[in-house]
Amino acid sequence: MSELIVQPTTSAAPAQDFAREGNHRKRSDAMVHLDLRRTAGKVDRRIFSGFAEHIGRVVYGGLFDPGNALSDAAGFRKDVLDLLKPLHMAAVRYPGGNFVSNYDWRDGIGPREQRRVRPDFAWKTLESNRFGVDEFVAWCRALGTDPMMVVNLGTGNARDAAELLEYCNLPAGTYWSDQRAANGHPEPYGIRLWGLGNEMDGPWQAGHCPASVYARRAYESAQLMKGLDPSIEVVLCGSTVPAMSTYMTWDQAVLEECWSLVDYVSAHHYSKNPMRDTRQFLAEGVVIDEMLEDYRALIRFVQAKKKSKKPIYVAFDEWNVWYRDEKSAEQWWSEAPPLLEEQYNLEDALVVAQYLSSFIRNADIVKIACIAQVVNVIAPVLTRKNGVLAQSIYYPFLLYSQAAGGTALSCHVRCRSYKAGNKEHVPVLDVAATVTDACDQASIFLVNRDTERAVISDIEIGGGKIKRILGVQELSGDDPHAANTWESPGAVVPCEGKAFLSKEVLVVEAPALSLVVVQVELEA
Ligand code: AHR
Repeated sequence: MSELIVQPTTSAAPAQDFAREGNHRKRSDAMVHLDLRRTAGKVDRRIFSGFAEHIGRVVYGGLFDPGNALSDAAGFRKDVLDLLKPLHMAAVRYPGGNFVSNYDWRDGIGPREQRRVRPDFAWKTLESNRFGVDEFVAWCRALGTDPMMVVNLGTGNARDAAELLEYCNLPAGTYWSDQRAANGHPEPYGIRLWGLGNEMDGPWQAGHCPASVYARRAYESAQLMKGLDPSIEVVLCGSTVPAMSTYMTWDQAVLEECWSLVDYVSAHHYSKNPMRDTRQFLAEGVVIDEMLEDYRALIRFVQAKKKSKKPIYVAFDEWNVWYRDEKSAEQWWSEAPPLLEEQYNLEDALVVAQYLSSFIRNADIVKIACIAQVVNVIAPVLTRKNGVLAQSIYYPFLLYSQAAGGTALSCHVRCRSYKAGNKEHVPVLDVAATVTDACDQASIFLVNRDTERAVISDIEIGGGKIKRILGVQELSGDDPHAANTWESPGAVVPCEGKAFLSKEVLVVEAPALSLVVVQVELEA
Protein backbone atom coordinates (compact mmCIF):
# COMPACT_ATOMS: atom_id res chain seq x y z
CA MET A 1 0.00 0.00 0.00
CA SER A 2 1.46 3.35 -0.99
CA GLU A 3 0.64 6.73 0.44
CA LEU A 4 -1.78 8.79 -1.59
CA ILE A 5 -0.03 10.91 -4.15
CA VAL A 6 -2.95 12.96 -5.40
CA GLN A 7 -2.16 16.58 -4.78
CA PRO A 8 -5.11 18.49 -3.37
CA THR A 9 -6.04 21.18 -5.85
CA THR A 10 -8.67 22.73 -3.63
CA SER A 11 -8.93 22.63 0.10
CA ALA A 12 -12.01 22.07 2.22
CA ALA A 13 -12.16 23.86 5.61
CA PRO A 14 -8.89 23.15 7.42
CA ALA A 15 -8.71 19.85 9.26
CA GLN A 16 -7.61 21.60 12.51
CA ASP A 17 -10.92 23.51 12.68
CA PHE A 18 -12.75 20.23 12.35
CA ALA A 19 -10.62 18.76 15.13
CA ARG A 20 -11.32 21.77 17.38
CA GLU A 21 -15.02 21.46 16.68
CA GLY A 22 -14.64 17.79 17.39
CA ASN A 23 -13.67 18.54 20.99
CA HIS A 24 -17.12 20.02 21.53
CA ARG A 25 -19.17 17.71 19.39
CA LYS A 26 -22.00 15.92 21.15
CA ARG A 27 -22.49 12.78 19.09
CA SER A 28 -21.37 11.39 15.82
CA ASP A 29 -23.84 10.25 13.18
CA ALA A 30 -22.30 6.85 12.52
CA MET A 31 -20.25 4.12 14.17
CA VAL A 32 -17.89 2.02 12.09
CA HIS A 33 -16.36 -0.96 13.77
CA LEU A 34 -13.44 -2.74 12.13
CA ASP A 35 -11.46 -5.56 13.64
CA LEU A 36 -8.11 -6.80 12.41
CA ARG A 37 -9.20 -10.32 13.36
CA ARG A 38 -12.37 -10.19 11.25
CA THR A 39 -11.26 -10.28 7.65
CA ALA A 40 -13.14 -10.68 4.38
CA GLY A 41 -10.48 -12.13 2.10
CA LYS A 42 -7.23 -11.20 0.39
CA VAL A 43 -7.59 -8.21 -1.91
CA ASP A 44 -6.42 -9.29 -5.36
CA ARG A 45 -4.68 -6.45 -7.22
CA ARG A 46 -6.52 -7.59 -10.34
CA ILE A 47 -9.73 -5.97 -9.07
CA PHE A 48 -8.02 -2.85 -10.40
CA SER A 49 -8.04 -3.88 -14.04
CA GLY A 50 -9.32 -2.31 -17.23
CA PHE A 51 -10.90 -3.21 -20.54
CA ALA A 52 -9.97 -2.10 -24.06
CA GLU A 53 -12.31 -3.14 -26.87
CA HIS A 54 -12.15 -2.42 -30.57
CA ILE A 55 -15.07 -0.03 -30.41
CA GLY A 56 -15.42 3.67 -31.18
CA ARG A 57 -12.23 5.53 -30.26
CA VAL A 58 -10.82 3.17 -27.65
CA VAL A 59 -8.05 1.83 -29.86
CA TYR A 60 -7.84 4.20 -32.84
CA GLY A 61 -7.53 7.76 -31.55
CA GLY A 62 -7.43 6.54 -27.96
CA LEU A 63 -4.53 4.34 -27.06
CA PHE A 64 -3.18 4.12 -30.63
CA ASP A 65 -2.78 7.26 -32.73
CA PRO A 66 0.20 6.95 -35.08
CA GLY A 67 1.39 10.21 -36.56
CA ASN A 68 0.04 12.28 -33.68
CA ALA A 69 2.72 14.46 -32.07
CA LEU A 70 1.64 13.06 -28.70
CA SER A 71 2.34 9.46 -29.76
CA ASP A 72 5.55 7.48 -29.44
CA ALA A 73 7.33 5.61 -32.23
CA ALA A 74 4.93 2.66 -31.86
CA GLY A 75 1.96 5.00 -32.28
CA PHE A 76 0.89 4.77 -28.62
CA ARG A 77 -0.47 7.98 -27.13
CA LYS A 78 2.04 8.94 -24.45
CA ASP A 79 -0.38 11.29 -22.72
CA VAL A 80 -2.90 8.45 -22.36
CA LEU A 81 -0.22 6.14 -20.98
CA ASP A 82 0.90 8.84 -18.55
CA LEU A 83 -2.62 9.34 -17.25
CA LEU A 84 -3.33 5.62 -16.97
CA LYS A 85 -0.04 4.70 -15.27
CA PRO A 86 -0.92 6.04 -11.80
CA LEU A 87 -4.04 3.85 -11.84
CA HIS A 88 -1.75 0.79 -11.65
CA MET A 89 -4.14 -1.43 -13.58
CA ALA A 90 -3.10 -5.02 -12.97
CA ALA A 91 -4.54 -6.32 -16.25
CA VAL A 92 -6.38 -5.02 -19.31
CA ARG A 93 -9.00 -7.19 -21.03
CA TYR A 94 -8.95 -7.22 -24.86
CA PRO A 95 -10.22 -7.16 -27.69
CA GLY A 96 -13.87 -7.25 -26.58
CA GLY A 97 -16.64 -7.15 -25.61
CA ASN A 98 -19.20 -7.73 -28.31
CA PHE A 99 -16.50 -7.07 -30.90
CA VAL A 100 -14.65 -10.29 -30.13
CA SER A 101 -17.54 -12.58 -31.02
CA ASN A 102 -17.00 -12.16 -34.76
CA TYR A 103 -13.30 -11.29 -34.72
CA ASP A 104 -10.56 -13.31 -36.37
CA TRP A 105 -7.35 -12.56 -34.48
CA ARG A 106 -5.37 -13.61 -37.57
CA ASP A 107 -6.61 -10.44 -39.33
CA GLY A 108 -4.60 -8.34 -36.87
CA ILE A 109 -1.13 -9.87 -37.28
CA GLY A 110 1.64 -9.60 -39.88
CA PRO A 111 2.66 -6.70 -42.10
CA ARG A 112 0.22 -3.82 -41.58
CA GLU A 113 -0.21 -3.00 -45.25
CA GLN A 114 -1.43 -6.53 -45.88
CA ARG A 115 -4.03 -6.57 -43.12
CA ARG A 116 -7.62 -6.73 -44.25
CA VAL A 117 -10.35 -4.24 -43.44
CA ARG A 118 -13.40 -5.99 -41.99
CA PRO A 119 -16.91 -4.89 -41.06
CA ASP A 120 -17.45 -5.15 -37.31
CA PHE A 121 -20.77 -6.90 -36.75
CA ALA A 122 -21.23 -5.62 -33.20
CA TRP A 123 -20.80 -1.87 -33.62
CA LYS A 124 -21.38 -1.52 -37.39
CA THR A 125 -18.04 0.13 -38.01
CA LEU A 126 -14.95 -0.61 -40.08
CA GLU A 127 -12.08 -2.44 -38.47
CA SER A 128 -8.81 -1.65 -40.21
CA ASN A 129 -6.85 -4.22 -38.16
CA ARG A 130 -3.89 -1.84 -37.95
CA PHE A 131 -3.82 -2.76 -34.25
CA GLY A 132 -3.91 -6.42 -33.24
CA VAL A 133 -2.54 -8.89 -30.72
CA ASP A 134 1.13 -7.88 -31.08
CA GLU A 135 0.37 -4.18 -30.78
CA PHE A 136 -1.83 -4.84 -27.76
CA VAL A 137 0.84 -6.80 -25.92
CA ALA A 138 3.37 -4.05 -26.69
CA TRP A 139 0.92 -1.43 -25.40
CA CYS A 140 0.39 -3.43 -22.18
CA ARG A 141 4.14 -3.51 -21.68
CA ALA A 142 4.35 0.24 -22.21
CA LEU A 143 1.65 0.70 -19.57
CA GLY A 144 3.09 -1.89 -17.19
CA THR A 145 0.04 -4.14 -17.11
CA ASP A 146 -0.80 -7.75 -18.02
CA PRO A 147 -2.91 -8.60 -21.06
CA MET A 148 -6.12 -10.52 -20.45
CA MET A 149 -7.03 -12.06 -23.80
CA VAL A 150 -10.59 -12.94 -24.76
CA VAL A 151 -11.19 -15.57 -27.46
CA ASN A 152 -14.03 -15.58 -29.97
CA LEU A 153 -16.55 -18.23 -28.99
CA GLY A 154 -19.35 -16.65 -31.05
CA THR A 155 -18.30 -17.44 -34.61
CA GLY A 156 -14.93 -18.90 -33.60
CA ASN A 157 -14.28 -22.37 -32.27
CA ALA A 158 -11.99 -24.19 -29.88
CA ARG A 159 -9.33 -24.62 -32.54
CA ASP A 160 -9.22 -20.87 -33.29
CA ALA A 161 -8.85 -20.22 -29.57
CA ALA A 162 -6.10 -22.81 -29.17
CA GLU A 163 -4.21 -21.40 -32.17
CA LEU A 164 -4.32 -17.92 -30.65
CA LEU A 165 -2.90 -19.39 -27.46
CA GLU A 166 -0.23 -21.16 -29.53
CA TYR A 167 0.61 -17.85 -31.23
CA CYS A 168 0.91 -16.06 -27.89
CA ASN A 169 2.35 -18.53 -25.43
CA LEU A 170 4.23 -21.36 -27.10
CA PRO A 171 7.96 -21.24 -27.69
CA ALA A 172 8.91 -20.85 -31.36
CA GLY A 173 8.96 -24.13 -33.26
CA THR A 174 5.28 -24.60 -34.13
CA TYR A 175 3.40 -23.04 -37.03
CA TRP A 176 1.71 -20.20 -35.10
CA SER A 177 4.49 -19.53 -32.61
CA ASP A 178 6.84 -19.26 -35.59
CA GLN A 179 4.48 -16.68 -37.08
CA ARG A 180 4.82 -14.67 -33.88
CA ALA A 181 8.59 -14.90 -34.11
CA ALA A 182 8.46 -13.92 -37.79
CA ASN A 183 6.40 -10.89 -36.77
CA GLY A 184 9.28 -9.76 -34.56
CA HIS A 185 8.45 -11.44 -31.24
CA PRO A 186 10.64 -14.50 -30.71
CA GLU A 187 9.85 -14.82 -27.00
CA PRO A 188 6.44 -16.17 -25.95
CA TYR A 189 4.14 -13.58 -24.41
CA GLY A 190 3.16 -15.78 -21.48
CA ILE A 191 -0.39 -14.46 -21.27
CA ARG A 192 -1.87 -15.96 -18.13
CA LEU A 193 -5.51 -14.86 -18.15
CA TRP A 194 -7.96 -15.86 -20.90
CA GLY A 195 -11.66 -15.10 -21.36
CA LEU A 196 -13.81 -17.80 -23.00
CA GLY A 197 -15.97 -15.51 -25.14
CA ASN A 198 -18.14 -12.56 -24.18
CA GLU A 199 -21.77 -12.27 -23.01
CA MET A 200 -22.78 -15.40 -24.88
CA ASP A 201 -26.18 -15.39 -23.11
CA GLY A 202 -27.21 -12.21 -24.99
CA PRO A 203 -29.25 -12.36 -28.24
CA TRP A 204 -27.24 -9.37 -29.52
CA GLN A 205 -24.04 -11.39 -29.40
CA ALA A 206 -22.65 -12.88 -32.63
CA GLY A 207 -23.01 -16.63 -32.23
CA HIS A 208 -25.39 -16.34 -29.26
CA CYS A 209 -26.60 -19.80 -28.28
CA PRO A 210 -28.26 -21.74 -25.47
CA ALA A 211 -26.23 -22.32 -22.31
CA SER A 212 -25.64 -25.98 -23.14
CA VAL A 213 -24.11 -25.11 -26.54
CA TYR A 214 -21.90 -22.37 -25.10
CA ALA A 215 -20.82 -24.68 -22.29
CA ARG A 216 -19.58 -27.24 -24.85
CA ARG A 217 -17.69 -24.59 -26.79
CA ALA A 218 -16.14 -23.27 -23.60
CA TYR A 219 -15.28 -26.74 -22.32
CA GLU A 220 -13.59 -27.78 -25.56
CA SER A 221 -11.69 -24.50 -25.78
CA ALA A 222 -10.49 -24.62 -22.18
CA GLN A 223 -9.45 -28.24 -22.65
CA LEU A 224 -7.37 -27.49 -25.76
CA MET A 225 -5.96 -24.26 -24.35
CA LYS A 226 -4.97 -25.71 -21.00
CA GLY A 227 -3.63 -28.74 -22.82
CA LEU A 228 -1.21 -26.45 -24.64
CA ASP A 229 -0.39 -24.27 -21.64
CA PRO A 230 -1.46 -25.59 -18.23
CA SER A 231 -0.31 -22.37 -16.53
CA ILE A 232 -3.21 -20.32 -17.89
CA GLU A 233 -6.38 -19.34 -16.04
CA VAL A 234 -9.71 -19.12 -17.86
CA VAL A 235 -12.88 -17.11 -17.35
CA LEU A 236 -16.26 -18.61 -18.22
CA CYS A 237 -19.06 -16.30 -19.48
CA GLY A 238 -21.64 -15.78 -16.78
CA SER A 239 -24.82 -13.77 -17.26
CA THR A 240 -24.66 -10.35 -18.89
CA VAL A 241 -26.82 -8.70 -16.28
CA PRO A 242 -29.31 -9.68 -13.52
CA ALA A 243 -32.19 -8.48 -15.72
CA MET A 244 -31.62 -11.39 -18.15
CA SER A 245 -34.39 -13.99 -17.91
CA THR A 246 -31.69 -16.67 -17.74
CA TYR A 247 -29.80 -14.96 -14.87
CA MET A 248 -28.28 -17.65 -12.64
CA THR A 249 -29.80 -20.57 -14.63
CA TRP A 250 -27.32 -19.81 -17.43
CA ASP A 251 -24.55 -19.51 -14.87
CA GLN A 252 -25.51 -22.74 -13.16
CA ALA A 253 -25.63 -24.67 -16.43
CA VAL A 254 -22.27 -23.46 -17.70
CA LEU A 255 -20.56 -23.86 -14.34
CA GLU A 256 -21.83 -27.40 -13.94
CA GLU A 257 -20.56 -28.39 -17.39
CA CYS A 258 -17.17 -26.66 -17.19
CA TRP A 259 -16.43 -26.79 -13.45
CA SER A 260 -13.33 -28.94 -13.68
CA LEU A 261 -11.65 -26.75 -16.31
CA VAL A 262 -12.42 -23.13 -15.42
CA ASP A 263 -11.13 -20.75 -12.79
CA TYR A 264 -13.54 -17.81 -12.88
CA VAL A 265 -17.08 -17.00 -13.94
CA SER A 266 -17.67 -13.53 -15.34
CA ALA A 267 -20.17 -10.96 -14.07
CA HIS A 268 -21.03 -7.72 -15.84
CA HIS A 269 -23.01 -4.72 -14.67
CA TYR A 270 -23.55 -1.18 -15.92
CA SER A 271 -25.28 1.23 -13.55
CA LYS A 272 -27.97 3.53 -14.90
CA ASN A 273 -29.80 6.60 -13.71
CA PRO A 274 -32.48 7.10 -16.38
CA MET A 275 -34.86 8.98 -14.03
CA ARG A 276 -32.02 11.25 -12.90
CA ASP A 277 -32.80 10.26 -9.32
CA THR A 278 -29.53 10.79 -7.46
CA ARG A 279 -30.65 9.21 -4.17
CA GLN A 280 -31.79 6.04 -5.88
CA PHE A 281 -28.75 5.92 -8.16
CA LEU A 282 -26.44 6.19 -5.17
CA ALA A 283 -27.86 2.94 -3.78
CA GLU A 284 -25.94 1.02 -6.48
CA GLY A 285 -23.44 -0.42 -3.99
CA VAL A 286 -26.32 -2.41 -2.51
CA VAL A 287 -27.14 -3.79 -5.97
CA ILE A 288 -23.54 -4.89 -6.56
CA ASP A 289 -23.39 -6.54 -3.14
CA GLU A 290 -26.60 -8.42 -3.96
CA MET A 291 -25.20 -9.64 -7.27
CA LEU A 292 -22.06 -10.89 -5.59
CA GLU A 293 -24.17 -12.62 -2.97
CA ASP A 294 -25.98 -14.42 -5.83
CA TYR A 295 -22.66 -15.56 -7.28
CA ARG A 296 -21.29 -16.60 -3.90
CA ALA A 297 -24.38 -18.74 -3.31
CA LEU A 298 -24.37 -20.26 -6.80
CA ILE A 299 -20.68 -21.12 -6.79
CA ARG A 300 -21.05 -22.70 -3.36
CA PHE A 301 -24.09 -24.63 -4.55
CA VAL A 302 -22.38 -26.07 -7.62
CA GLN A 303 -19.27 -26.81 -5.59
CA ALA A 304 -21.36 -28.75 -3.07
CA LYS A 305 -23.29 -30.53 -5.82
CA LYS A 306 -20.00 -31.58 -7.41
CA LYS A 307 -18.55 -32.53 -4.02
CA SER A 308 -15.58 -30.45 -5.09
CA LYS A 309 -12.97 -28.59 -3.09
CA LYS A 310 -11.83 -26.58 -6.09
CA PRO A 311 -12.50 -22.84 -5.73
CA ILE A 312 -14.03 -20.79 -8.53
CA TYR A 313 -14.02 -17.01 -8.27
CA VAL A 314 -15.82 -14.11 -9.91
CA ALA A 315 -14.19 -12.05 -12.66
CA PHE A 316 -16.32 -8.88 -12.74
CA ASP A 317 -14.79 -8.15 -16.11
CA GLU A 318 -17.10 -5.32 -17.23
CA TRP A 319 -18.48 -2.69 -14.90
CA ASN A 320 -19.11 1.02 -14.87
CA VAL A 321 -21.84 3.65 -15.16
CA TRP A 322 -23.32 3.63 -18.68
CA TYR A 323 -26.76 4.75 -19.82
CA ARG A 324 -26.58 8.02 -21.70
CA ASP A 325 -25.30 6.83 -25.04
CA GLU A 326 -26.01 3.22 -25.97
CA LYS A 327 -26.24 3.43 -29.77
CA SER A 328 -24.06 1.83 -32.42
CA ALA A 329 -22.58 4.01 -35.17
CA GLU A 330 -25.02 6.51 -36.71
CA GLN A 331 -23.25 6.19 -40.01
CA TRP A 332 -22.55 2.52 -40.48
CA TRP A 333 -19.16 1.40 -41.73
CA SER A 334 -17.14 4.43 -40.74
CA GLU A 335 -13.79 3.95 -39.01
CA ALA A 336 -13.45 4.62 -35.28
CA PRO A 337 -16.39 7.04 -34.94
CA PRO A 338 -16.98 8.57 -31.50
CA LEU A 339 -19.24 6.04 -29.77
CA LEU A 340 -20.53 5.75 -26.21
CA GLU A 341 -18.45 8.71 -25.03
CA GLU A 342 -20.21 9.27 -21.73
CA GLN A 343 -19.37 12.42 -19.84
CA TYR A 344 -19.13 11.51 -16.18
CA ASN A 345 -20.11 13.60 -13.18
CA LEU A 346 -19.78 13.53 -9.41
CA GLU A 347 -22.64 11.11 -8.75
CA ASP A 348 -21.17 8.70 -11.31
CA ALA A 349 -17.83 8.89 -9.49
CA LEU A 350 -19.57 8.01 -6.22
CA VAL A 351 -21.17 4.99 -7.88
CA VAL A 352 -17.78 3.91 -9.26
CA ALA A 353 -16.41 4.19 -5.72
CA GLN A 354 -19.16 1.86 -4.50
CA TYR A 355 -18.26 -0.80 -7.07
CA LEU A 356 -14.70 -0.77 -5.78
CA SER A 357 -15.86 -0.89 -2.16
CA SER A 358 -18.11 -3.81 -2.98
CA PHE A 359 -15.24 -5.68 -4.65
CA ILE A 360 -13.19 -5.13 -1.50
CA ARG A 361 -16.02 -6.20 0.81
CA ASN A 362 -16.40 -9.35 -1.31
CA ALA A 363 -12.68 -9.93 -1.70
CA ASP A 364 -13.14 -13.60 -0.86
CA ILE A 365 -14.87 -14.25 -4.20
CA VAL A 366 -14.03 -11.30 -6.50
CA LYS A 367 -10.49 -11.71 -7.79
CA ILE A 368 -10.66 -9.77 -11.07
CA ALA A 369 -12.63 -6.67 -12.05
CA CYS A 370 -12.22 -4.60 -15.21
CA ILE A 371 -13.59 -1.10 -15.47
CA ALA A 372 -15.18 -0.73 -18.91
CA GLN A 373 -13.40 0.80 -20.59
CA VAL A 374 -10.02 2.54 -20.39
CA VAL A 375 -10.22 5.40 -22.85
CA ASN A 376 -12.94 7.37 -24.71
CA VAL A 377 -15.71 4.73 -24.64
CA ILE A 378 -17.43 4.81 -21.21
CA ALA A 379 -14.02 5.58 -19.79
CA PRO A 380 -12.17 7.53 -17.10
CA VAL A 381 -9.96 9.12 -19.77
CA LEU A 382 -11.00 11.12 -22.85
CA THR A 383 -8.75 12.16 -25.69
CA ARG A 384 -8.79 14.80 -28.35
CA LYS A 385 -6.07 15.35 -30.93
CA ASN A 386 -4.03 17.58 -28.65
CA GLY A 387 -4.66 16.29 -25.15
CA VAL A 388 -6.32 14.11 -22.52
CA LEU A 389 -8.94 14.74 -19.88
CA ALA A 390 -9.38 12.87 -16.59
CA GLN A 391 -13.10 12.40 -16.03
CA SER A 392 -14.66 12.42 -12.54
CA ILE A 393 -14.60 8.60 -12.39
CA TYR A 394 -10.83 8.60 -12.86
CA TYR A 395 -10.37 9.80 -9.29
CA PRO A 396 -12.13 7.10 -7.25
CA PHE A 397 -10.22 4.48 -9.26
CA LEU A 398 -6.97 6.33 -8.53
CA LEU A 399 -7.66 6.73 -4.81
CA TYR A 400 -8.70 3.10 -4.29
CA SER A 401 -5.97 1.63 -6.45
CA GLN A 402 -3.32 3.58 -4.54
CA ALA A 403 -4.68 3.01 -1.05
CA ALA A 404 -6.26 -0.47 -1.04
CA GLY A 405 -4.14 -3.52 -0.46
CA GLY A 406 -3.51 -6.55 1.69
CA THR A 407 -6.66 -7.97 3.25
CA ALA A 408 -10.24 -6.71 3.34
CA LEU A 409 -11.75 -6.12 6.77
CA SER A 410 -15.37 -6.85 7.64
CA CYS A 411 -17.09 -3.56 8.35
CA HIS A 412 -19.84 -3.17 10.92
CA VAL A 413 -21.60 0.11 10.30
CA ARG A 414 -24.34 1.83 12.29
CA CYS A 415 -25.76 4.85 10.52
CA ARG A 416 -29.03 6.33 9.36
CA SER A 417 -30.68 4.92 6.25
CA TYR A 418 -33.12 6.08 3.58
CA LYS A 419 -35.63 4.66 1.15
CA ALA A 420 -34.52 4.44 -2.47
CA GLY A 421 -37.03 3.01 -4.94
CA ASN A 422 -37.92 -0.49 -3.82
CA LYS A 423 -35.09 -0.56 -1.30
CA GLU A 424 -36.46 0.37 2.11
CA HIS A 425 -33.26 0.79 4.12
CA VAL A 426 -30.25 2.00 2.19
CA PRO A 427 -27.52 3.00 4.67
CA VAL A 428 -26.27 6.52 4.02
CA LEU A 429 -22.73 5.24 4.39
CA ASP A 430 -21.06 2.71 2.10
CA VAL A 431 -17.88 1.49 3.82
CA ALA A 432 -14.94 -0.73 2.92
CA ALA A 433 -11.55 -1.17 4.56
CA THR A 434 -8.25 -2.95 4.02
CA VAL A 435 -5.20 -3.67 6.13
CA THR A 436 -1.67 -4.37 4.92
CA ASP A 437 -0.16 -7.82 5.34
CA ALA A 438 2.17 -6.42 8.00
CA CYS A 439 -0.87 -4.97 9.82
CA ASP A 440 0.91 -1.62 10.00
CA GLN A 441 -1.43 0.47 7.83
CA ALA A 442 -5.16 0.48 7.19
CA SER A 443 -7.24 2.27 4.58
CA ILE A 444 -10.89 3.15 5.05
CA PHE A 445 -13.18 4.08 2.16
CA LEU A 446 -16.42 5.91 2.99
CA VAL A 447 -19.09 7.06 0.54
CA ASN A 448 -21.75 9.37 1.95
CA ARG A 449 -24.87 8.84 -0.15
CA ASP A 450 -26.75 11.65 1.59
CA THR A 451 -27.32 14.46 -0.90
CA GLU A 452 -27.70 17.11 1.81
CA ARG A 453 -26.13 16.20 5.12
CA ALA A 454 -22.63 15.35 6.18
CA VAL A 455 -21.99 12.20 8.20
CA ILE A 456 -19.52 12.29 11.07
CA SER A 457 -18.28 8.77 11.81
CA ASP A 458 -16.49 7.31 14.79
CA ILE A 459 -14.25 4.54 13.51
CA GLU A 460 -12.71 1.96 15.81
CA ILE A 461 -10.26 -0.74 14.87
CA GLY A 462 -10.43 -3.74 17.19
CA GLY A 463 -7.29 -5.83 17.65
CA GLY A 464 -5.12 -2.84 16.73
CA LYS A 465 -4.32 0.72 17.72
CA ILE A 466 -4.28 3.70 15.39
CA LYS A 467 -0.98 5.55 15.74
CA ARG A 468 -1.52 8.43 13.34
CA ILE A 469 -3.40 9.58 10.29
CA LEU A 470 -1.31 9.33 7.14
CA GLY A 471 -3.69 11.07 4.76
CA VAL A 472 -7.30 11.98 4.11
CA GLN A 473 -8.56 12.48 0.57
CA GLU A 474 -12.03 13.63 -0.33
CA LEU A 475 -13.97 13.75 -3.59
CA SER A 476 -17.12 15.79 -3.08
CA GLY A 477 -19.19 18.75 -4.23
CA ASP A 478 -22.56 20.41 -3.93
CA ASP A 479 -23.71 19.49 -7.41
CA PRO A 480 -24.07 15.78 -8.23
CA HIS A 481 -24.00 16.70 -11.91
CA ALA A 482 -20.70 18.60 -11.81
CA ALA A 483 -18.36 17.17 -14.44
CA ASN A 484 -14.83 17.71 -15.68
CA THR A 485 -14.83 19.23 -19.14
CA TRP A 486 -12.12 20.41 -21.52
CA GLU A 487 -12.91 23.96 -20.40
CA SER A 488 -13.08 23.08 -16.71
CA PRO A 489 -10.95 19.97 -16.09
CA GLY A 490 -10.72 20.53 -12.32
CA ALA A 491 -14.44 20.60 -11.47
CA VAL A 492 -14.38 17.16 -9.78
CA VAL A 493 -10.98 16.41 -8.28
CA PRO A 494 -9.89 15.20 -4.85
CA CYS A 495 -9.10 17.63 -2.06
CA GLU A 496 -7.81 17.18 1.47
CA GLY A 497 -10.49 15.73 3.72
CA LYS A 498 -11.18 16.04 7.44
CA ALA A 499 -10.36 13.51 10.12
CA PHE A 500 -8.78 13.52 13.56
CA LEU A 501 -7.89 11.06 16.27
CA SER A 502 -9.75 11.28 19.55
CA LYS A 503 -8.01 8.88 21.89
CA GLU A 504 -8.19 5.66 19.86
CA VAL A 505 -11.19 6.64 17.82
CA LEU A 506 -10.78 7.95 14.31
CA VAL A 507 -13.34 10.68 13.65
CA VAL A 508 -14.04 11.33 9.98
CA GLU A 509 -16.31 13.84 8.33
CA ALA A 510 -17.86 12.72 5.05
CA PRO A 511 -19.65 15.72 3.54
CA ALA A 512 -22.90 15.23 1.64
CA LEU A 513 -22.20 13.52 -1.71
CA SER A 514 -18.67 12.47 -0.98
CA LEU A 515 -16.04 9.78 -1.09
CA VAL A 516 -13.50 9.98 1.73
CA VAL A 517 -10.39 7.80 1.83
CA VAL A 518 -8.47 7.73 5.10
CA GLN A 519 -5.12 6.03 5.57
CA VAL A 520 -3.84 5.39 9.06
CA GLU A 521 -0.72 3.93 10.57
CA LEU A 522 -1.29 1.17 13.10
CA GLU A 523 0.84 0.34 16.08
CA ALA A 524 2.75 -2.81 15.32
O1 AHR B 1 -18.47 -2.19 -23.01
C1 AHR B 1 -19.40 -2.05 -24.04
C2 AHR B 1 -20.16 -3.35 -24.31
O2 AHR B 1 -20.95 -3.68 -23.20
C3 AHR B 1 -19.32 -4.58 -24.54
O3 AHR B 1 -18.92 -4.72 -25.85
C4 AHR B 1 -20.25 -5.69 -24.17
O4 AHR B 1 -19.57 -6.83 -23.69
C5 AHR B 1 -21.17 -5.07 -23.14
O5 AHR B 1 -22.49 -5.34 -23.40
